Amino acid sequence: METQKLHDDIIRQKEEKDVVILAHYYQRPEIQAVADFVGDSLELSRVAASAPQGTILFCGVKFMAETAKILSPDKTVLTPYPLAGCLLADMAEPREVEEAKKANPTAQVVAYVNVYAEIKALADIICTSANAGKVMEKTEGDKILFVPDRNLGAFHARTMKGKDVRLWDGYCPIHERITPEAIERVQRKHPDALVIVHPECPPRMTEKADFVGSTSQLLRFVEQSDAKCFIVGTEEGILHEMKKKAPDKDFLLPDPIPICDQMKMITLERVHKALKEDIYPVIVEEAIRAKAEKAIRRMLEL
Ligand code: 13P
Repeated sequence: METQKLHDDIIRQKEEKDVVILAHYYQRPEIQAVADFVGDSLELSRVAASAPQGTILFCGVKFMAETAKILSPDKTVLTPYPLAGCLLADMAEPREVEEAKKANPTAQVVAYVNVYAEIKALADIICTSANAGKVMEKTEGDKILFVPDRNLGAFHARTMKGKDVRLWDGYCPIHERITPEAIERVQRKHPDALVIVHPECPPRMTEKADFVGSTSQLLRFVEQSDAKCFIVGTEEGILHEMKKKAPDKDFLLPDPIPICDQMKMITLERVHKALKEDIYPVIVEEAIRAKAEKAIRRMLEL
């Protein structure tokens, strides 16, 4: 089926079937176009928790769809492609986290939302890149075990006074490749461009950037800034919303271009099939779900 037909049929079906489509900013433009709501991890988890529809079709990677199911256990949550995972989330194994908790019994476990349900269930509180600093600051006690993104953890640990922050050794391979060299290759031709990056980038990159923020914070920044040209250090999908929000500005990407193949596994054909056939339902074991929900709700209450 051609793209326009798929698009129209998705719009018709979601209305007929009482389905809300949520999509992350890293999704393909044609997926963002059929979504009822496009947002960052924090915004999407809030919308998932309060959506009135009976079914959520989540266009993002597995941990995001799982988060929606954890918060809305009575709803059907569908993922168009269950194999769309997250290489960062894969870097934290439940058994390893349990061992780290035993080795650090007084530490509060702060888990980045980019982990699977089993790890969320082991955490005291969840954070996203939009609120990691605030969550870390508000944790009780003076010791934090931050799982699994060492770069996001290090970015906020620098400003955390009186807290001993233990960082997991995980990272997002896409953001890890956004380095000063990858930026400089583009900067040579565009010396006036502002450099804005996601906190999942390595410290030597975040230290040099003009602005560091989560996807929603980067979007706000380009809208409000007086600058006209930006080198955007995060997954390329964000440019779709940036161009919509600030059509008179120019957006460039690092070299090599950061593309998350996992996010891009969600295609319009797969969204169409998921809607038509009510596949693939996300299932989270109740004992795990209930514990994970507590940790997510603690974040949402902040
Ligand atoms: P945001 O929370 O900033 O949307 O980031 C999500 C993510 O997965 C980054 O890799």
